Amino acid sequence: MSIAVLARADDFDGWRAAARGLAAARVTGETIVWQVGDAPTDLLGGPAADNAAPVATEPMFSVPRDFIDMARRVVCHTDPERFALLYAALATLRDRPKLFDDAADPLVRRLYDLDKGVRRDVHKMRAFVRFREVGENEEDDGERFVAWFEPDHHIVRLNAGFFARRFANMAWSILTPDECVHWDGELSFTSGASRADAPEGDPLEATWRTYYASIFNPARLKVKAMTSEMPRKYWKNLPEAALVPGLIAGAGERTRMMLAAGDAAGMTNAAVQASARRPADANPADANPCDANPGDGSSADALAVLRDDARHCQRCPLFGPATQTVFGEGSPTARLMFVGEQPGDSEDLGGRPFIGPAGQVFDRALAAAGIERGQTYVTNAVKHFKFEPRGKRRIHAKPMTPEIDACRWWVDHERRIIKPTITVALGATAARSLTGKTVTISRERGRALTLADGSEAWITVHPSFILRIEDRTAAAAEFARFVADLIAVRERLATLVAA
Ligand code: URA
Repeated sequence: MSIAVLARADDFDGWRAAARGLAAARVTGETIVWQVGDAPTDLLGGPAADNAAPVATEPMFSVPRDFIDMARRVVCHTDPERFALLYAALATLRDRPKLFDDAADPLVRRLYDLDKGVRRDVHKMRAFVRFREVGENEEDDGERFVAWFEPDHHIVRLNAGFFARRFANMAWSILTPDECVHWDGELSFTSGASRADAPEGDPLEATWRTYYASIFNPARLKVKAMTSEMPRKYWKNLPEAALVPGLIAGAGERTRMMLAAGDAAGMTNAAVQASARRPADANPADANPCDANPGDGSSADALAVLRDDARHCQRCPLFGPATQTVFGEGSPTARLMFVGEQPGDSEDLGGRPFIGPAGQVFDRALAAAGIERGQTYVTNAVKHFKFEPRGKRRIHAKPMTPEIDACRWWVDHERRIIKPTITVALGATAARSLTGKTVTISRERGRALTLADGSEAWITVHPSFILRIEDRTAAAAEFARFVADLIAVRERLATLVAA
């Protein structure tokens, strides 16, 4: 029996060093006890016969980089068998270097499941940590922010770099039951804390709640999706969660009131008029040209794989401070695709495109133009939120050409899979992504351009351009122009589909 002693529950370096030595000595997994500190951690645990260090008998073989990356995450899982499973995979890789190509292999499946659990936990921590201000920081007289979070796995260190990059200008601590992480210009770790050590709330929470209530769109409420994205176990630590039951309860009534007012999602008069002109209303028997192609499911599969890959995208530095990749969503066989600029603050947290204030303008315009969003595909030219931190706020920063060009890889693949008949660029960043050139919106707006693949692109303004116009009359006029552009697209699509 060999005992491999690891310093911590997430001690990847310790596991790697021990595993290399044991594998080189061809020690079989069944004879190894993996032990964190003083306690045996795996099911093989028990009194160890000996803990003599193995003598290496042959040089270490090389393993795929992806395996090492995955192992780094899997060691953070709470499954007591994780070290033994990883060792079994390492030992198998010597004779079967393509082990991980076989997704049906039980060991591979088990490790993928563990990896998925850790990734999900990492994502939830990024999305649901809420800092509260606790006043002056004794050392530098600045403010300090503290958050309480209860991860499922040992992910505090794995996630620490993300929070350090994202909140580099603040002094903060994240307390968890297992381990706490602190940032004061450098990272440090202390042992676990209890919920009582974390502050309960601060005045900013009222602002956050107001904001959340204002972006909540009752007409788009999907309770199941919402509770799967924001599982109830996190609610107790989220200031906005206190609002959720009330908002859900009132959603039906609010939607009915908005519709009764002829103002579904707050349409302007111009938009209501524009919507009355739409062809489908003139002849309801007409099939809607914006409806997606039926498809055979292969696009959906390809898109699911692409989306999954994009979660780990590091093609440009924007992935660092962002919470997550915000990939496109909608019909995988859409005839109509929309490309925006980049996710904003709400999208970065929610993980979906156009769900914040600009998304609401976009939804209103689509409704007014008679286009059903669910039949289209909506994505962004840049998939990570770019921002400047200002205190606790994150201020949108425009993506630069190298960032747009790096992310174009994803947009091109999305278009290759979906094969939209028309792609609409919302704003200059999207136009650059689609055409590869700097485009003047006012010059190109309202007519078809031919893209490199022979399909059509139309260019119009970005919805946030309308949001920024302070004068209400001017904003309404721009909104109506935007709707008119979308109606022109819709009519053009009808012609192309009929041809
Ligand atoms: N602006 C965009 O361009 N995309 C979004 O998803 C949100 C705001």
